[in-house]
Amino acid sequence: MRSPSDPLSTSASSARPRAAPTAGQTRRSGRKRAEAPLLSPLRYPGSKRRLATHVGEILDLNERSPELFVEAFAGGASVAIRLLQLGRVKSIGLVDLDPMIAAFWRTVFFDTKWLCREIAKVPVTLAQWETYRATKPRSDRTRALVCLFLNRTSFSGILNPRSGPIGGYEQKGEFKIDCRFTRETLIDRIEKIAAYRDRVAFIWNTSWDQALMDVRTKQAADELPQDVFYYFDPPFFEKAEKLYTFYFDDADHIALRDALVDMTDHAREPWVLSYDMADRLEELYGDRPESTHIELLYSTSGGGDRRVATEVILSNLPRLPIPSVEDKRRRSKAHGGERPKAAKPQKTRVA
Ligand SMILES: C[S@@+](CC[C@H](N)C(=O)[O-])C[C@H]1O[C@@H](n2cnc3c(N)ncnc32)[C@H](O)[C@@H]1O
Repeated sequence: MRSPSDPLSTSASSARPRAAPTAGQTRRSGRKRAEAPLLSPLRYPGSKRRLATHVGEILDLNERSPELFVEAFAGGASVAIRLLQLGRVKSIGLVDLDPMIAAFWRTVFFDTKWLCREIAKVPVTLAQWETYRATKPRSDRTRALVCLFLNRTSFSGILNPRSGPIGGYEQKGEFKIDCRFTRETLIDRIEKIAAYRDRVAFIWNTSWDQALMDVRTKQAADELPQDVFYYFDPPFFEKAEKLYTFYFDDADHIALRDALVDMTDHAREPWVLSYDMADRLEELYGDRPESTHIELLYSTSGGGDRRVATEVILSNLPRLPIPSVEDKRRRSKAHGGERPKAAKPQKTRVA
């Protein structure tokens, strides 16, 4: 198991492009709450952007305003970033086993100017894509740039080495390799997100279980707050090997379930978990008394048509939002009028 890097001190920050509101400022101002969501610069398979509001509601219902929100499978980090922007959490910690992802977020927050300068000038060509695809980056800077470049120029935003360039190797497709590498938009997103750097407690390139142990060790040493809330969004059950460089086998899914049970029964640490709907989910979590809720997410396929994906939310908190009538209608429609099979559908159970 790789050991985590130290939390980044804010003294490592580059000059601040603009000041972000503090948690208190954001919460007090109704105008700030209505701000358009900060969007992740990464196109992420399984992005939970649409779940951020839902997780925020879970925090509200359970009267939680955590000092530290840990997104343990960070990927595009959409939920942590949105909750930070909304002032629903005071600080965030990001964890991802993929060194490219961890390096990307470190560079976004703490080497912002360098990254933005590179984005402005990197040639977005098939030759550059092939060079980056063959590169084994050795520094955080190069990892970050290669990560963003390949993410924005590869099919479906997939960083997996099997994914080809947008437009194909012949560049004969309708969309060319540069169609999603919109420099100004990416720089704007990165600068806006980086303005929150003072509220980033750590960015660790490690596994979720190591991160859990490290958080507890640092809490015992008073280096991290006691009031920590965990969000787990593990790799999918289905086809994860096609989507991510690092994914789960069945033993990993079981180990995560066991850890969540332990956090509920012994450590009393609050968590929310999101999973793709799968029969294995019912087998792993079906007899647990935690609250469950099923949420519909919309995913966009490569062709641009909208498909409905179903997401299961589980938590060890007692209250989850009750699905609206409209949610229920859409959910039923997505499943051909039938109830979806996995994990106690359409109800909230209280521990
Ligand atoms: C479903 S994606 C997360 C998507 C993210 N929540 C978002 O909204 O963009 C799963 C992530 O878990 C990471 N991962 C895989 N195995 C891991 C592990 N053992 N520990 C931590 N992260 C892991 C993958 O690199 C991937 O980024």
